Amino acid sequence: MKRVKAWGLTVAVAAALGSFALLYFNYFANGTGDPPHAFRGATSTSEACRPCHQSIYDSYVKTGHYLTSTVATKATVMGDFSAGRNVARTPLPDLQFAMEERRGGFFQTAVYTKDTTETFTKPFQIVVGSGERAQTYLFWEGDRLFQLPGMYFTPEETWTLAPGYETWIVWWEELPNKRLEMLYQRPIGGRCIECHAATVLPVGSPTGLRFHPDSFEVGISCAKCHGPGVQHIAFHEQNPAAEEGRHIVNPASLSRSQQISSCALCHAGQGVPKTPPLSFRPGDEISAHRIYTKAEQKQLSVHGGQVQFLWESRCFAESGSMTCSTCHNVHEDETDQTAMFSRQCLTCHEQSHAEEPKLAQGDRCTECHMPDQQASNLPMYHEGEELFLSMANHRIGIFKDP
Ligand code: HEC
Ligand code: HEC
Ligand code: HEC
Ligand code: HEC
Ligand code: HEC
Ligand code: HEC
Ligand code: HEC
Repeated sequence: MKRVKAWGLTVAVAAALGSFALLYFNYFANGTGDPPHAFRGATSTSEACRPCHQSIYDSYVKTGHYLTSTVATKATVMGDFSAGRNVARTPLPDLQFAMEERRGGFFQTAVYTKDTTETFTKPFQIVVGSGERAQTYLFWEGDRLFQLPGMYFTPEETWTLAPGYETWIVWWEELPNKRLEMLYQRPIGGRCIECHAATVLPVGSPTGLRFHPDSFEVGISCAKCHGPGVQHIAFHEQNPAAEEGRHIVNPASLSRSQQISSCALCHAGQGVPKTPPLSFRPGDEISAHRIYTKAEQKQLSVHGGQVQFLWESRCFAESGSMTCSTCHNVHEDETDQTAMFSRQCLTCHEQSHAEEPKLAQGDRCTECHMPDQQASNLPMYHEGEELFLSMANHRIGIFKDP
């Protein structure tokens, strides 16, 4: 984690505008009518796979994928609710967000002390982010979902403002009829849910912002990478002696580009939509669903640009076989596994640095060739500073200053 002093206001405003504009573009600008095969209705929960795939299930439920959205409870919300440590400060000295635990659950209250004693409160209902780097929180208002302004920032172990709010709050203060509830109106759309949860059923238009709250399934489910699974389960329940899996996608038997597409759905950045959110099915080509801009491909992003970076590496281009699964086993929590990743390099690079023993460190190839670098999008605002997250650079190569 690296810290950087606040940039000039212009840059910060541009970044905030960019993120809001992207949000709105994605939600309103594209696609009407029914998706080719929307990810609705008949799909299985991860729990449904458990009886026959117990060991994969047991390790999978400990991963960031499974835990990337949860129902808000004492166990899942990471931040501190104790007095003195329970506030997210803002650029305005008279405005802050207080985190409160009351009998009915967790709440976030905007407290504005400039000439008033006004407050405004909404509950924490859904947590987004396993908390590896950060968590943000959502609440329902009828059939619409909104983001709470205060979020949790893991590297500093503190509450802070969700990206973009610091500039929005400064504009808000200038508004003639400002009300605190205006700070609680950032909508959450289907694309956010597509990347961070299993599924949800839209109310009306599949590109709209209305969902059936009861249909929201937290966590990335097995079905997200393996297909709905309903037929698979029915078949194996009826044919307990069958040894070969039927009616299910095994990514290992898809083409290389289909395999990468399954990860690209969430690890290639936002993209410009060609189909409504939640249309993608494992086995599809990502190019049928999204277009990725050049700008997006250049930026190391907190919302995952690993695909484009890997594409540009010689390992990917010249091996002809590398996929994400060459190094990652998504059924397992792989935090802090530098040595394990470096062993994967040696499946193709037996003789590297043989002549130079000080480089030939088999357990840390990735530290020099896939260094952690700062993601320049979505800075977090905290105590007057902008903070950036760091990510492994998937453009495997030779870095001057890793
Ligand atoms: C009633 C038992 C049962 C349930 C429930 C079940 N499976 Fe399977 N599955 C099997 C059997 C049997 C096989 C074949 C043996 C093996 O590969 O483990 C299999 C194989 C697989 C394969 C490999 C297929 C291949 O072509 O190699 C995948 C992937 C898979 N299952 C995923 C899932 C997912 C995801 C779920 C939940 C949606 C699920 N299974 C639920 C019984 C089941
Ligand atoms: C294109 C898919 C995509 C979209 C859309 C997306 N995210 Fe993410 N997000 C990711 C990925 C992937 C990561 C993990 C970063 C990485 O490792 O590449 C992530 C990381 C996060 C984290 C940090 C998680 C942690 O445990 O450290 C939070 C919080 C988050 N996203 C919130 C959101 C919210 C809220 C939205 C919608 C407004 C959203 N994201 C939209 C893919 C997406
Ligand atoms: C993020 C995507 C993703 C999720 C989520 C996921 N898998 Fe997989 N799964 C894969 C990939 C990729 C492979 C193929 C790995 C390879 O190339 O060997 C695979 C392979 C399998 C296989 C067959 C080979 C093996 O490893 O035994 C089974 C069975 C399986 N998954 C079951 C599950 C179950 C059950 C869940 C949920 C508890 C689940 N998967 C969640 C991506 C995923
Ligand atoms: C439905 C969206 C989605 C898909 C599909 C997906 N990922 Fe992710 N992935 C995420 C999100 C979101 C996170 C951040 C989870 C968190 O910590 O909150 C993540 C995190 C990760 C991480 C960091 C380690 C961890 O478990 O937190 C790895 C590695 C990863 N994904 C690899 C893959 C690979 C490889 C594939 C394809 C087989 C894949 N992902 C498919 C959304 C997705
Ligand atoms: C040559 C090996 C290799 C390949 C191939 C690979 N990764 Fe990684 N990946 C790594 C290493 C090393 C890390 C850093 C792990 C750490 O620091 O704990 C990493 C980390 C990640 C993370 C965590 C966030 C970050 O960037 O630090 C995500 C998400 C991820 N990879 C996704 C992918 C996806 C998606 C693909 C396929 C497009 C892929 N990876 C292909 C080696 C690889
Ligand atoms: C699937 C095989 C494969 C894997 C796995 C693999 N590479 Fe490569 N890599 C290649 C090929 C092929 C080339 C291009 C020809 C060459 O230099 O051997 C290459 C090139 C390179 C280069 C030269 C890059 C340049 O821009 O000149 C470096 C450095 C490198 N690999 C490091 C790594 C590291 C570190 C890992 C593990 C994180 C790794 N590779 C994993 C196949 C692979
Ligand atoms: C301390 C940093 C460092 C470590 C650790 C390291 N490398 Fe390198 N590597 C370099 C540098 C610098 C170069 C370019 C200069 C050179 O070729 O000696 C390079 C060049 C390479 C190349 C391209 C030239 C060639 O020799 O073919 C490959 C492939 C490679 N490294 C693979 C690996 C693998 C695999 C590992 C782990 C066993 C590894 N490196 C560990 C710094 C490192």
